[in-house]
Amino acid sequence: MKKISFALFAALILTACTKQQLPVANYDIIPQPKEVRLDDGKPFELSPKTIIHYEANLQREAQFLSEYVNDIFGYALKTQEYQGQTDGIVLKLSPADFNQAEAYEINITPKQITIKGADAAGVFYGIQTLRKSLPIQTSNLKPQTSQLPCGTIRDWPNFAYRGMHLDPCRHFIDLDSVKIYLDMMAMHNMNQFHFHLSEDQGWRIEIKKYPELTEIGAYRNGTVIGHNGNLYDTIRHGGFYTQDELRDLIQYAAERHINIIPEIDLPGHMQAALACYPNMGCTGGPYEVWRRWGVSDDVLCAGNEEAMQFAENVLNEVIDLFPSPYIHIGGDECPKVRWEKCPKCQAKIKELGIKGDGRFSKEDYLQSYVMNRMAKVVEARGRRVIGRRVIGWDEILEGNVSETAIIMSWRGIEGGIEAAQKGHDVIMTPLSHLYFDYYQSEDIANEPACIGGYLPVERVYEFQPLPSELTPEEQKHIIGVQANIWTEYIAHFWHVQYMAA
Ligand code: ACM
Ligand code: ZN
Repeated sequence: MKKISFALFAALILTACTKQQLPVANYDIIPQPKEVRLDDGKPFELSPKTIIHYEANLQREAQFLSEYVNDIFGYALKTQEYQGQTDGIVLKLSPADFNQAEAYEINITPKQITIKGADAAGVFYGIQTLRKSLPIQTSNLKPQTSQLPCGTIRDWPNFAYRGMHLDPCRHFIDLDSVKIYLDMMAMHNMNQFHFHLSEDQGWRIEIKKYPELTEIGAYRNGTVIGHNGNLYDTIRHGGFYTQDELRDLIQYAAERHINIIPEIDLPGHMQAALACYPNMGCTGGPYEVWRRWGVSDDVLCAGNEEAMQFAENVLNEVIDLFPSPYIHIGGDECPKVRWEKCPKCQAKIKELGIKGDGRFSKEDYLQSYVMNRMAKVVEARGRRVIGRRVIGWDEILEGNVSETAIIMSWRGIEGGIEAAQKGHDVIMTPLSHLYFDYYQSEDIANEPACIGGYLPVERVYEFQPLPSELTPEEQKHIIGVQANIWTEYIAHFWHVQYMAA
C-alpha cells in the first residue's frame, strides 16, 4: 500500500516537472549552417496557436512546415498569406539580401520567427533547418508547446549541384520508396537526384516506341546468389516506372526543389535492352536480362545505325519526359572486345577515319563518336530547357568527347581534375569517399552484407571536392558533389535507407 502511494506521488511530481520544462530546440544540425548566433532572452514559443504567414508564392513551403510540425508534435499549424503580421512564423522572399541562390536567413525573436530566402529553395532549406532543430518527441505525451532560443541562422550552399544517385535496376525500388528517398534528400538540402534507369539486369523506364524494353527487359529470371558465385535463385525479379508515374515523381521532386536527372547508361550496361532487341548487339545474341553482377562484354553495336537510332529515340522520349537541364548518358564500363571483332563496328571506324594513337585505341574513339552523337541529340533539344547538357561517367574522357559534356568523376578524383583542366564541368563522386553502397563499419559481422569496401561517415565528411592541383579558375568547373547507392547487394529499401542515413 505504502509502495503504491509512493509511486503515485513520484509520478505526480514527474508530471508536474515535465509540464514546467518545455522541450527546447537545438540548432546543432546536419548540415551545419554557416552561421548560428544565439541571443539571450526569452525564447519563441511554438504552440498549436502559432500561425505560419507566407508570401504569395510560398504557400507550398508553408504547408511543408505545417506538415513537419504535425509529424513531430501531432498538430498542424494554420497557414495564411502574410499581411504584415508581427507574430507567428513568417516566410518571405528577399533576393536583395543575398548574393547567391538558395541562401536563407532565420531570425528568431520572442514574438516571431522569420525565414527569408534568396528564392523559394532558400526558404525551403530554412524550413528544413528549423524542422531539424525542433525537439524530437519520444513519448506519446506530446507537449503542446516547445521553445526556440532567439538568434539568427544564416546559410548558403558551397555548390550548386548537391546530388544523390540511386540504382533501382539491380534491385527494383517502388515509387513510394523513391519518394521517401527524395524526402531524405530534401531534409539534407540535396537538390539533384540522379536516377539510374537502365542496366544489364533490368530496364526501368517505359519507352513508348520500344514497349519490349519493359515487357521483357524489366524482368530477369533469377539472380546470382552471394558475391557473383555460380548459384542462382529462380525468382523472377523486376518492375518498371510508367511515364505517368515518372511525371508524378518529377512533380513530387520539384515541390521539394529537387531536379531528377535520368540516366540511360550506354553503350555498355545495355544487356537488358539487347535481350529485347538482339540485332542491336554485335553478335546478334541471344541475350538474357542479366542474372549476374559485373561488367558485361555485350554492349550496343556502335557500327549498327539501327542501334544508334534506337539510343537516340530512347533519349528523345526521356528528354520529352524530364525537364532536367542534365541528361545522363552513362558511358562507364564499356568493354571493347565485341567492337574489336565486329565487322559493322570496324566498318564504322573506317568510315569515320578513326585511328588509334598512343593514348587511346580506335575503339575508344568509337565510343567518343557514340557519346558525342548522343550529346548532340540532347543539346539540340535546348529549346525547352536552355543549355541542356549531357553528363557522363569519367570513362568518356578516354577519346575525344565534346567539352560540353559534364564529367562525373567516380574512379577517383583524377578524372575530375583532368576534365576540369580540359574545360569540362565536373561533378565529384569518387568511390573513395562517396560510394554509399560500401560498409560503414569494420565490424562487418554485424552489418547487413553489402558489396564490400569501408567508408565510415568521417571519411565522407573529410572529402575535399576542390583539388589543390587545380587553379582557382579551373576549380570553378567543379559544380558539385554526389553520393551513389548501387544496389547489387541491397535488395530492400530499408537497406538503402540504412546506407544513406
Ligand atoms: C560506376 O560505378 N560504374 C559508375
Ligand atoms: Zn558492333
